[in-house]
Amino acid sequence: MDILTTNNLSVSYGNRKVLKDLSMNIMENKITAIIGPSGCGKSTLLTTLNLMIEENGGNFTGKIFFKDKDILSYEKDEIRRRIGMVFQKPTPFPFSIYKNLTYAPKYYGIKDRLKLNSIVEDTLRKVGLFDEINHDINTKATKLSGGQQQRLCIGRALTVEPEVLLLDEPCSQLDFKNTANIEDMLLKLSRDYTIVIVTHNLSQAKRISDYTAFILDGELIEYGETEEIFTNPKDNRTKEYIEGIYG
Ligand SMILES: Nc1ncnc2c1ncn2[C@@H]1O[C@H](COP(=O)(O)OP(=O)(O)O)[C@@H](O)[C@H]1O
Ligand SMILES: [Mg+2]
Repeated sequence: MDILTTNNLSVSYGNRKVLKDLSMNIMENKITAIIGPSGCGKSTLLTTLNLMIEENGGNFTGKIFFKDKDILSYEKDEIRRRIGMVFQKPTPFPFSIYKNLTYAPKYYGIKDRLKLNSIVEDTLRKVGLFDEINHDINTKATKLSGGQQQRLCIGRALTVEPEVLLLDEPCSQLDFKNTANIEDMLLKLSRDYTIVIVTHNLSQAKRISDYTAFILDGELIEYGETEEIFTNPKDNRTKEYIEGIYG
């Protein structure tokens, strides 16, 4: 089942078109990796998928369907709750861990203290931080290590029960151990969530994703099962990219 579908999606900043006629289906409860050289349009694609593109100065043509309904027929707030996003650089709010994890639920109307506490506990467990930081939830989130901050940011996105998580190179600032930690966590989360991850790290795409999309210069060159893309690419440009010929 696909959960997000793009139909001839093109995205421009001003009159510069940076994504051209992308048509793809993103499958529910799977991990989809988006790969391609720097500047090819990966981040633009993610910000378009949760309707943040206009705030970033861009606009799109073509269609995006979320659960078979035109994405523009939903309220933006609802889309941002159901399709969460995490960025490359960990961006915890400069408040306590507790406040980071209760901020969005409160915004969406949850007031009950016990309910909020249980969201905090569940989230810390989901992102594997419970044992590490549960005793310290009043600590400022910016005091955590980089890897912990990134897991907290993924957790923060989970506090409003999204269906899709968009992750933009979430491990690029992390060391090997923290990256392995996050990869394990994503594999577990993919049972309950649809994950779309932009990554520069091809072995990461190979290790964790079910599907891979290769974008070059704003065009979707090839999209299919990760196994197939990496072992038997149909397009020569895909082959060259995974062999490391482009940057
Ligand atoms: N806010 C913006 N305004 C204008 N141009 C942008 C903006 N964001 C990205 N671009 C341009 O769009 C192209 C695709 O960028 P991006 O989506 O960030 O690529 P990637 O994430 O693959 O590195 C690049 O040429 C970039 O310079
Ligand atoms: Mg990017």
